Amino acid sequence: MLSCSFLAEISAGLRPYCSWEERGPLQGAREAIIDTRTDIIRQDARLSVFEGPDAVRDFLNPDHHLPLPLVELPEPLNPFVADGVRVFGKLMYLLPLLNVKSLPAINMLLEARDSGRLDGVHDLVENSSGNTAFALGVVAGLYGIRRVVAIVPWDIAPGKLDLLRLCGVEPRLVRDGQGAPSGIAQARANGEAPGCFNPGQYDNGANPASYEKWVLPQIREQLGKRLTVFATGVGSGGTLVGARRYFRQHGEKVCLVGAIVAPGNAVPGVRSEATLREVSHPWRESADAIIEVGTRESFKKSLHLCRSGILGGPSSGFALAGLLRFLESRRADGTLDDLRNDAGEVVATFVCADTPLPYLDKYSTHLDPADF
Ligand SMILES: Cc1ncc(COP(=O)(O)O)c(C=O)c1O
Repeated sequence: MLSCSFLAEISAGLRPYCSWEERGPLQGAREAIIDTRTDIIRQDARLSVFEGPDAVRDFLNPDHHLPLPLVELPEPLNPFVADGVRVFGKLMYLLPLLNVKSLPAINMLLEARDSGRLDGVHDLVENSSGNTAFALGVVAGLYGIRRVVAIVPWDIAPGKLDLLRLCGVEPRLVRDGQGAPSGIAQARANGEAPGCFNPGQYDNGANPASYEKWVLPQIREQLGKRLTVFATGVGSGGTLVGARRYFRQHGEKVCLVGAIVAPGNAVPGVRSEATLREVSHPWRESADAIIEVGTRESFKKSLHLCRSGILGGPSSGFALAGLLRFLESRRADGTLDDLRNDAGEVVATFVCADTPLPYLDKYSTHLDPADF
């Protein structure tokens, strides 16, 4: 049972976030939580109603939602059905801000606030492929921050740039590798100015911790010991590093596959070996297999996902392509059986980080007219 003081803390807004472990009983009790200040029944996760003065804050709180769907791919998308392999997409794009990066964004701000690092801060500056900065732009106001500057890649999709501007974020385009300081270095330097703060997703431990807190417990609850393979694209490395730590801590033997961008290619949100050099999170040590995937393959797989009803963007196609290539290599060298669970199945999941919507114009650039 939850203690009265816990419920009172939640109602008073002193504990806007609770751990997943605390969440189970909370869910059952939520219908009975009455906000004593407003006499409003605050929320009902089952019915997804968010009311009262803190309704939006509550809606954006990852603890206040049921687990996001884990959807098994149909046969045309899974070439390993006959091998007893099942593949599930984890639909992180169904979060309120339509992309997974809202989780590290919220967690980095929470930790910064709790450690006093947001005191007197009015500007945030973050290097981002776009999603983290977009999420920061939306949630920063809840932490009393007025301005968010996003240092973004020069070839960012126009749709993503529009999305940043829509939410009041000020984008600054940079082209890494031209002798000038990288976007990450520029954001770090700008964050040193008085009243400024750089969350720094590439070395901030609150980034991987957000996946340990809000994503992996869901998957574990959804699949239990059936899960044997977890695949994700690597951008900041937060998802992969969080997954390694979480599964290790829980004594789960899950094989981790990290997809990285093949040299000379580009996929929004994820990085190549060369551009990962600036990332401090131990992404390489966290993976059991690193697989390189190209642009065209990523967009093509995303197209197939979308047409089957899973609206995963390019990096979702990228993670799926990496997973399938990994499974192919294990089948070819006769080690697929090492990945089977007690029921004799290989159960794999891959992360669908966002949707195709910000990148719509890029699909026709990277794919053939015959695809449309
Ligand atoms: C669309 C998208 N997919 C995947 C990733 C990679 O996730 P991570 O940063 O946890 O490595 C990102 C990161 O920015 C992203 O924006």
